[in-house]
Formats: sequence, structure tokens, C-alpha cells
Amino acid sequence: MKLALGYQAFWEAAHKNYPDQLRPDGLLDQGGMFRVINNVLNADHSDRFAKPSERLWRWSINPWIADTRFTKVGALGKTYRGLILLKTPFDLALYPRLIWELQPRTILELGSYQGGSGLWFADNMSVLCENPGEVHSFDLHTKCVHETARKHPLLTFHQVDLSNVANFDVDLLMSLPHPWLVIDDAHVQIFPVFSYLNKLLVSGDYYVIEDDPARVNREIIDGFQLVEESGFLIDTYYTDAFGNNVTCAPNAWLRKS
Ligand SMILES: C[S@@+](CC[C@H](N)C(=O)[O-])C[C@H]1O[C@@H](n2cnc3c(N)ncnc32)[C@H](O)[C@@H]1O
Repeated sequence: MKLALGYQAFWEAAHKNYPDQLRPDGLLDQGGMFRVINNVLNADHSDRFAKPSERLWRWSINPWIADTRFTKVGALGKTYRGLILLKTPFDLALYPRLIWELQPRTILELGSYQGGSGLWFADNMSVLCENPGEVHSFDLHTKCVHETARKHPLLTFHQVDLSNVANFDVDLLMSLPHPWLVIDDAHVQIFPVFSYLNKLLVSGDYYVIEDDPARVNREIIDGFQLVEESGFLIDTYYTDAFGNNVTCAPNAWLRKS
């Protein structure tokens, strides 16, 4: 219920202090605010979690083209503290919510690129988590990682070829506290990697698979059957926050039951 705590406090304070604004056409009755508040307050009691086999593979808009198509300098949205950050604006709004709600002790990022996304995760963790843990980011080409990212005290980069799961340092992984948030943005052997890490995941951990699910080919359909058999449910609070699957990880904000 951490998700709803702030909204609950606002709701109670508004009833107590501003009853006039809660009346029809009052200030708080504008812009669908009642529905927004109710959605968050009731998120945990709705049909929030769905089996992959019950979900359609469709999305309201393609989140990757939203900023570049409709603004001249949309690409600038994909930087953070001067580094490349390959996330859509929607996902940049979603991850902080999940980090706040989950309070992960460990974030595992597969695919570091320049280190901009790892830096962003580490900064978010330091601000949003009451007990900040560690971000571990894995990539084959770690020479591209920028010094600014390397200097962050919560962030460590590891050079690993993810085409073979045996390359993971299992002792390191087993030492990392839960809850975990895993983000697969490397696009290499996604389901073998998922199966491997799933053995180390515990109930409540999250696993986000970016981009590849949008291919919806045989590999993805079979892979999501494996995901379901492994006890994961789709958290539609995140996949559908801005419309059906308006995220770089369609049907792939996954929570282990
Ligand atoms: C899409 S980029 C990651 C983007 C980054 N997470 C972000 O949001 O800015 C994918 C990364 O996967 C890495 N990669 C490609 N093949 C790999 C492999 N076999 N093992 C590990 N990393 C690999 C690439 O070097 C690249 O940095």
C-alpha cells in the first residue's frame, strides 16, 4: 500500500481543510482528479495483476516515437546529466514510481551503454529509497561507460558477455539483498537470462524486459509462457499507466508471486 500513502494523506487533508473544493465543480473536481485519486487508492484492490496469457498484445501509441515525432528536439529527452539515456519519457515517469513503491535494495541493469541509465537508477534510488541499496549494471562493452557514472557511490559496472549465463558472477548475485528490480535492456538471450536470474529471485521482486516483447514473435510468445509458468504476473499499474502498454516494456513489468 506504499503507493497510496501520499494520496491517502492528501485525501484526508482535503476533506478536513477544503470541503468546499471537493463539491461538484470545486477546485478538486477539475481534470478528473477524483478518478485519478480513486485509481491510485484502489490500485491494489483492482485487477491490477494479470496473467500474460490473459493479456492482448496491443498498445495505444508507440512510446518510442512520441517525443521525436511531435517535438523538434525530442531526442534531447533521452539524456541525463549529459549522458545518453535510452528510455522513453513514459518509462522515465514509471520507474521512479516503482522504485518508490518497491523500495528495492538491489537494482540489476542488463545493458549499460554509456552508463546514463545506471546513473539515473542510482540517483533515483538514493532519493526514493529509505534504505538505499546498490545498482549493478552489466555490459559487454564497458569501455563506453562515462566517468560521471563510474563515480556514483551506489553504482557498479561489470563487464559480462550475457550471451552465456555462466558468465554471471553467482557469488555476487547471491550476496545482493532483496527486493530486486531487474531491468533487461541488453536484448541478448532474454529468456535464458530470465530463467537463470529467476532461480535467484524471490516473491515480490520485479523483472522488466524492455523493447523485445514488442516483436511478439514465436520466441516472445513461448517466452511469456515460461514467464507465466515461473509464477510472474504483469503489473498493469505500470504497463497501462498512460494507456495500453505505453511503455518500452509492453506486458513486461513483471512481479514474481
Ligand atoms: C539498448 S543498450 C542499453 C541502453 C541503456 N540501458 C539505456 O537505457 O540507456 C544495449 C546494451 O547491451 C549491450 N550488449 C550487447 N550485447 C551484449 C552482450 N552479449 N553481453 C552484454 N551486453 C551486451 C550493448 O553494449 C549495449 O550497451
